[in-house]
Amino acid sequence: MPQPHAALKARYGAAAPAIPLDPGPVLDALLAQRSVRHFLPDALPPHALEQLVAAAQSAPSSSNLQTWSVVAVQSQAGRDRLAALTGPQNHLRTAPLVLAFLADLSRIARIAARSGREAAGLGYLDTFLMAVIDAALAAQNAVLAAQSLGLGTVYLGALRNQPEAVADLLGTPAHVFPVFGLVVGRPDPARPAAVKPRLPQASVLHLERYHAPADAAAETGGYDAELRRFQASEGLPPIDWSQLVIDRLRDPAALKGRHRLYEALLGAGFRFDDAPATSA
Ligand SMILES: Cc1cc2nc3c(=O)[nH]c(=O)nc-3n(C[C@H](O)[C@H](O)[C@H](O)COP(=O)(O)O)c2cc1C
Repeated sequence: MPQPHAALKARYGAAAPAIPLDPGPVLDALLAQRSVRHFLPDALPPHALEQLVAAAQSAPSSSNLQTWSVVAVQSQAGRDRLAALTGPQNHLRTAPLVLAFLADLSRIARIAARSGREAAGLGYLDTFLMAVIDAALAAQNAVLAAQSLGLGTVYLGALRNQPEAVADLLGTPAHVFPVFGLVVGRPDPARPAAVKPRLPQASVLHLERYHAPADAAAETGGYDAELRRFQASEGLPPIDWSQLVIDRLRDPAALKGRHRLYEALLGAGFRFDDAPATSA
């Protein structure tokens, strides 16, 4: 019986598929990807920011509308303020760069306004979703580019915890929404990050048609125990993944401010003209 490849063993633990891996630096990098939360305060290599943005802009973009932008926050004061607004997440204070990725419909709104044209399509849910997808694809390209520059990253969904205060700090105009941040820095070699196991492939991969698992065991296939082992090995509180996901979405308060997203988007000038009318 062939043994699973070491990279797959790290990614799946006991559920690692015993398949051969075609060699290649991109696949190697993808399978080794992990979030870094301990950084050195050292500056980034020269022109790292521009290289990350070039990688981000190389991501596909829906209809090439390029409905995203990014604010690079490098100042200590800016990062301290963002750290406070997002937790506090203290790794923002140490790492020299935080990229705030924006769903940005303002560029097209300005272009339309200058030419005196309607852009009614901006006011629909799919257009907002398109901007969020574009921003996410761009950011993940930046994550891999950072890895290839020897840098570490961690996303910052907590940027949405206090959306108005974050928009104020970043100076974003109407029709722009900060979707998430990306903290970038040199990983602290004294506190290396480990590859976190994922659900078995059988939990996420459906062949031809979706098949809802019939019971808890088929749903997560031993992942609760796998994640508990990972948490313990990292000195983190051991918790079943099934418990973790329920806790994270327990009630509106568990969303840590993000239950106000719709209201925040309307406040930022987004419209959802396709929203069904609600009866009073
Ligand atoms: C959109 C998004 C937002 C995230 N927000 C945060 C965050 O605010 N703080 C944090 O420490 N990690 C954040 N993460 C990192 C996840 O916790 C992490 O990706 C997940 O636990 C898997 O671990 P890994 O990236 O090391 O494989 C975020 C990840 C994504 C994709």
